[in-house]
Amino acid sequence: AAYQIAVIVGSLRQESLNGKFADALVRLARPEFSFKRVQIGDLPLYNQDDDKNQAASVKRLKAEISAAHGVLFVTPEYNRSIPGVLKNAIDHGSRPYGQSVWQGKPAGIIGVSVGAIGTALAQQHLRNILAYLDMPTLGQPEAFVHAGEGLFDAEGKIGPASKEFVQKWLDRYLDWVIKQAA
Ligand code: FNR
Repeated sequence: AAYQIAVIVGSLRQESLNGKFADALVRLARPEFSFKRVQIGDLPLYNQDDDKNQAASVKRLKAEISAAHGVLFVTPEYNRSIPGVLKNAIDHGSRPYGQSVWQGKPAGIIGVSVGAIGTALAQQHLRNILAYLDMPTLGQPEAFVHAGEGLFDAEGKIGPASKEFVQKWLDRYLDWVIKQAA
């Protein structure tokens, strides 16, 4: 594939709706894109004392982000913000000072919630963080996905009610990645 996208899911649980959604989402992508789920569940809690001696899992995260043309965040909202595990991963990738892997990577933000306006606040908080990290982030369209009946079909693909909307969002994000790479 011409473009490699790192996918970060902000939930660690096995049955994560966001994890399932991320898997279904990337199946809608055109063939010049490949996707790699970046693991964040084995990262230690960020501690600045370790900056000079980063854990193997941190080095892996940083190498995977460095190799990617873009970063796709698929995250739930926890208590009206992003989950701590996601912030922890972002903090790891931003350090040591001057060696952030996030800078310049075109980002897309999408999230699934059981609540009606779910993930809107989390997404807004994430935008703040990514702006500081100098990641060009797709502004429109926004996508707040409600995990209702029929979000997924029997094969785990995006169900008919949401498919067109999700496809449009993904196409716009992939166009964004190409534009930023040019
Ligand atoms: C939630 N949930 C939630 N939903 C929401 O729309 N806004 C919120 O602020 C919160 N807060 C929150 C905090 C914590 C600690 C948990 C565990 C959950 C509900 C959330 O949308 C739901 O659990 C999703 O299923 C979580 O995403 P995954 O794990 O299915 O991907």
